Amino acid sequence: MKNVLSAIQPTGDLHIGNYFGAVQNWVRLQENYNCVYGVVDYHSMTMPYKAASLLENTWKMTFQLLACGVKAENMFIQSLVPEHAELTWILSTVTSYGELARMTQFKDKSKQLEDNEGKEAFVGAGLFFYPVLQAADILIYHADYVPVGKDQEQHLELSRNIAQRFNHQFGKEYFRHPEPLYTETPKILSPADPTRKMSKSLGEKHYINLLGDADRVRKQIKSAVTDTGDTPAGQMSAGVQNLFEILRACKHMDAYDSLMADYSAGALKYSALKEGVADALVDLINPMRENYEALLADKRRVRDSIKDSSAAVRQRAQQTLREVRELVGLPAVK
Ligand code: TRP
Repeated sequence: MKNVLSAIQPTGDLHIGNYFGAVQNWVRLQENYNCVYGVVDYHSMTMPYKAASLLENTWKMTFQLLACGVKAENMFIQSLVPEHAELTWILSTVTSYGELARMTQFKDKSKQLEDNEGKEAFVGAGLFFYPVLQAADILIYHADYVPVGKDQEQHLELSRNIAQRFNHQFGKEYFRHPEPLYTETPKILSPADPTRKMSKSLGEKHYINLLGDADRVRKQIKSAVTDTGDTPAGQMSAGVQNLFEILRACKHMDAYDSLMADYSAGALKYSALKEGVADALVDLINPMRENYEALLADKRRVRDSIKDSSAAVRQRAQQTLREVRELVGLPAVK
């Protein structure tokens, strides 16, 4: 079986864009691949943050992924496998300064810091090293495939270059060449501004919580922007398209077909579309929220199981580090 690795930063609440864009796919891949999924807390230290919220968000993300159907035995918390940090150091020696300086995510994020704090903004070296840590996440488990969004393309390519340079430098085809896995996923837009991708950074009304409260979800859909009046005649507005897209993503195809027929006949009522979408979302969300609540009621045991799975995953990482240390000329650890 081929190896799959992916990871997500502990950002707090998952929204439906994260679910349809990534998590749902992770759950499916578990059937046919040997999967490991990380909650990457080391990565979240690269932008300003508070220690207490990082820890809280790490557990929160872990519980949310479990509620969505990611199996505990496939999950780990990155910092519970400190070998990721060790491999980052080793890989940094086969990564060039120029390559890291070209990463668009680094450029965007350092600019964001400067926009917020002015020219004297503190841009940590950790932010610069972020892609090397990501390469370590991937290479340490000999991943064949990495399901990611298009925004991670450049980081994936860097991981392959790092693997190749390492293999060349140390004279062995040791690391595999990880391929990105771009699966067809619906692009979910902000309900409040359907010209932009759903994202937490845009603010509260721009994302729909995956494990949110049913009433709030209904309200958010009710107030979703449908038509701002600037859509060319004969074209479906971005807001209406987005609502249909959500309906399809929720697999409410009967509602989708009949509402689409209304649209084609010029008889679509936005209120009916919104009701259909809200019903579909509530159907999707309810069972997951029940799972989430059950997991929270059993917090100690669940946390323990994630610590166990992280320890099991760590054994694989330690095996890699034993081999890597030998290849690069470091002594064996007793
Ligand atoms: N950088 C990724 C993101 O922001 C998260 C990530 C960290 C990741 N390590 C990874 C994704 C390894 C895939 C593989 O989405």
